[in-house]
Amino acid sequence: MLRSARDRLLLPAAMAALLISALAYWWLDNGPHEIFGTLMFGLLGWHLTTNRRWFLKLRSGRYGARRWVVLVTHIWLGITMTVLVVTSVLISRSVLSFAQFSNDVTIIELHWFSAYWVAIIVAVHAGTHWTRVMTVAGTVFRLSPSRIRSGVLRLAALLLLGVGAWSFTVLGVSTKLMFGYSLEFWDFTSAVSPFFAHWTVVMAGVAVFSHYAMICLRQLDEIRTRTMEGQT
Ligand code: HEM
Ligand code: HEM
Repeated sequence: MLRSARDRLLLPAAMAALLISALAYWWLDNGPHEIFGTLMFGLLGWHLTTNRRWFLKLRSGRYGARRWVVLVTHIWLGITMTVLVVTSVLISRSVLSFAQFSNDVTIIELHWFSAYWVAIIVAVHAGTHWTRVMTVAGTVFRLSPSRIRSGVLRLAALLLLGVGAWSFTVLGVSTKLMFGYSLEFWDFTSAVSPFFAHWTVVMAGVAVFSHYAMICLRQLDEIRTRTMEGQT
């Protein structure tokens, strides 16, 4: 059970925290930025090893709408994460300073562009697996089903959706995702913690949206299966 808590709860939480920390490039020095990013890539290796069975089972079983969405999200995440890793190695000035492969502006642009996409797709990805996260949390903390808790969590989810949409505009995320270089950087000299709060809420809001979209898709899959069974 402890292993499950470590691999399925603590590990993803640590990766998400490192990812958001690395986004604060203009608050951190280059050195800490690269260290946080490298640590996240290291934990990602562990995460992929933990979940290796998912890759091994790719060719077995039937594909419904839900499974297709998870597959496409993983491919998308895999591509953006690969771009982030490769550009990191190429532009490194601290961790791999001895190499200093490139100072090319295009590669630097690809680096921040992929970083913002990774942040959003990781949130979609976490949302698609949220049911498992809640099941593990329920087992680890020995929680029995409770209507009040479910109600409070649903209310919190709704709140996160609303505040997340607001934070999305405050941070100018849509400009960043469209390769538009925004000169409106977060002003870390006036406030630091709101930057982290906004990013956390943006990612949580996207995860909530993705979680509920998955619930709808699961119901769609069930209706389809029942209809097919009725026809045979
Ligand atoms: C910051 C980065 C990431 C975070 C926060 C994250 C988060 C999560 C969470 C919360 C889960 C469900 C709990 C679990 O099964 O471990 C999960 C599962 C999984 N993740 Fe990630 N993940 C990240 C990156 C990635 C990447 C880049 C890939 C590769 C495409 C990936 C592939 C998987 C797979 C294959 C599963 C298991 C799916 C299943 O069994 O249905 N993750 N991830
Ligand atoms: C979680 C992983 C990472 C994320 C989310 C991330 C994100 C970012 C962001 C948002 C910037 C600011 C770009 C700008 O606005 O101009 C940046 C810059 C930079 N990153 Fe990363 N990064 C990550 C990992 C790394 C790693 C592992 C390295 C090197 C080993 C690295 C090296 C750099 C360098 C050298 C810059 C400065 C580019 C410049 O403006 O000259 N990053 N990164």
